[in-house]
Amino acid sequence: MGFFSKDIKTMNDLFVHTLRDIYYAEKQIVQSLPEMIEKASDPQLKQGFHSHLGETKNHVARLEQVFKLFRQEPKGVDCPAIDGIIDEAEEVAGEVEDKSVLDAALIAAAQAVEHYEITRYGALIAWAKELGRNDAAALLQQNLEEEKAADKKLTAMAESRLNRRAA
Ligand SMILES: [Fe+2]
Ligand SMILES: [Fe+2]
Repeated sequence: MGFFSKDIKTMNDLFVHTLRDIYYAEKQIVQSLPEMIEKASDPQLKQGFHSHLGETKNHVARLEQVFKLFRQEPKGVDCPAIDGIIDEAEEVAGEVEDKSVLDAALIAAAQAVEHYEITRYGALIAWAKELGRNDAAALLQQNLEEEKAADKKLTAMAESRLNRRAA
């Protein structure tokens, strides 16, 4: 569905389009996290990616419930933004030798992913409420809270990495 083909006529259409976008993104993240787990050296970072993989699988499941509430088949739409973020992460990670530097690159890449998710969920929650779908908004809010918590944990890990290097 091209942005200029005028397929999106109503707020409901826009909501469903963006729901498909984040659904695609979450599924790509499920695919890419195992590689991040493998590449991470810091055990805490590895563990953090591992637990966010579990959460991300739940995000996919919650999105499927939201599709159901809107009487839509769960279906993704290409999201060049998340593809770009993931491609860039893989490219940079491939260039890094030093383990600690690689961890820093992985943390930054993961935060770019979380921030993308946070913006999408922010918009979707506002639009679900506008459409009078507080049930959908509540499900999306649960995903948003987990993205925010993951982002905070990543910030803490970036800081503890810095402290270790300064010590
Ligand atoms: Fe997610
Ligand atoms: Fe996430």
